[in-house]
Amino acid sequence: MKEKTLSIIKPDGVARHVIGEVIRRIEEAGLNIVAMKMIKMAPAEAKGFYKVHEGKPFLESLIDFMSSGPCVVMVLEGDNAIKKYRKLMGATDYTKAEEGTIRRAFATDIEKNVVHGSDSESSADFEINYFFSELEIVAG
Ligand code: CMP
Repeated sequence: MKEKTLSIIKPDGVARHVIGEVIRRIEEAGLNIVAMKMIKMAPAEAKGFYKVHEGKPFLESLIDFMSSGPCVVMVLEGDNAIKKYRKLMGATDYTKAEEGTIRRAFATDIEKNVVHGSDSESSADFEINYFFSELEIVAG
């Protein structure tokens, strides 16, 4: 089933110059990039994006981190894009991520885990619309 998912290369990934490597892995996996931009979020914007994590002990630090520098946000499209990209990223906690995944290769802690990907169709809808207008997404 053809799906869209939101991908973020987080400030740690951008600072450590792995944008190209993350994109290479996305393309190698057969996912198409149908929208892409670099942004620097204000804390309120990061808070709005992560509203599902309201009340979590890590939220405040996560907001600080996500607004600390530029991120690359992308919409990926392909068969089973949501699952496929989550498999490519590996587990949130990089110490539990499978060998060969982006987080296993580049993450340095549970927060600074290089990438984000939507976890379901409903979050993909919310997350894509949070950053992109319909006009910014090319028809796949
Ligand atoms: P992400 O997939 O973007 O979703 C929520 C983010 O919160 C997660 O990646 C991490 O960057 C961060 N985070 C920090 N601590 C935790 C934790 N204990 N559990 C889940 N996410 C965490």
